[in-house]
Amino acid sequence: EVTKDWNGADQVAIRSPRGASVRVCLHGGQVVSWRNDRGEELLFTSSKVSLFQLPVLVARSYLWQCGFDPVTAIFKPPRATRGGIPICFPQFGNCGTLEQHGFARNKIWTIDEEAPRLNYGDNNNNKASVDILLKPSEDDLKCWPHCFELRLRVSLSMDGDLSLISRIRNVNGKPFSFAFAYHTYLSVSDISEVRIEGLETLDYLDNLSQRERFTEQGDAITFEEEVDRVYVGSPCVIAVLDHEKKRTFIVRKEGLPDIVVWNPWEKKSKTMVDFGDDEYKQMLCVDAAAVERAITLKPGEEWTGKLELSAVPSTNCSDH
Ligand code: BG6
Repeated sequence: EVTKDWNGADQVAIRSPRGASVRVCLHGGQVVSWRNDRGEELLFTSSKVSLFQLPVLVARSYLWQCGFDPVTAIFKPPRATRGGIPICFPQFGNCGTLEQHGFARNKIWTIDEEAPRLNYGDNNNNKASVDILLKPSEDDLKCWPHCFELRLRVSLSMDGDLSLISRIRNVNGKPFSFAFAYHTYLSVSDISEVRIEGLETLDYLDNLSQRERFTEQGDAITFEEEVDRVYVGSPCVIAVLDHEKKRTFIVRKEGLPDIVVWNPWEKKSKTMVDFGDDEYKQMLCVDAAAVERAITLKPGEEWTGKLELSAVPSTNCSDH
């Protein structure tokens, strides 16, 4: 199902027969909503819109309602929404010459019409999916001169598990290297009641001290101040336990060696124009990523990075 959001960007929704759903926006190739079969939103999205963006968004919305497509016509797309799952590519953070987290999250993607569309029940499938595509524009090639195709397959299982598979291909020219992250804003009830299991004893690069390397000492990771870390060489499965909601997110990944953990906490939240002062309590970013070591593709080569998210009642999670 393809719809437009309130300011004219196309969104594709998948709904499972049991009532779960996912919505992906072609602006940024960003998953903007993931709901379980009880209709509960599992991803965080800020309710605050930057005041700088507001006039642009209102004008876009007005023009779109007049039947004029402003997304491609006049305005460059605005910045990615704060929340959901923005795609960070080909750079992570500000380590490089490109804009923070690379350009992919600010571009207009297209639906990949050549890819087969999976539907529930076809060939005994228990998932449905949509494929979207990003190719570089002339402008992108000026700041990052590499011809690539980035295909993202978004799938929702009958049980409501979300899977994202990115395939990046070097379509000509010379080898190139990139970083990548699924910048995943999980919705939590209270950050002080959340812990992450699976990252104990790992090394991490601390973004709060110029990526200095430390070793995690504690048991599970808990939160009582700003955290911005890249856990390197992390296991394929980790768990994020939300004690108050009695919910556990299981994060499974392939081809993505690192996990970025970020919560801006109180002071940094106040400096972010598109984030409410207290919203840090309801979110935790846990990103499956390739950050420490860049991925290099020779001409013709393809890389695949996969993320699978499930949300299960905490009482059932000892099996995972
Ligand atoms: C995190 C980074 O992944 O994203 C942080 O580790 C950064 O350093 C955060 O502040 C948010 O980035 P942005 O560009 O979306 O404000």
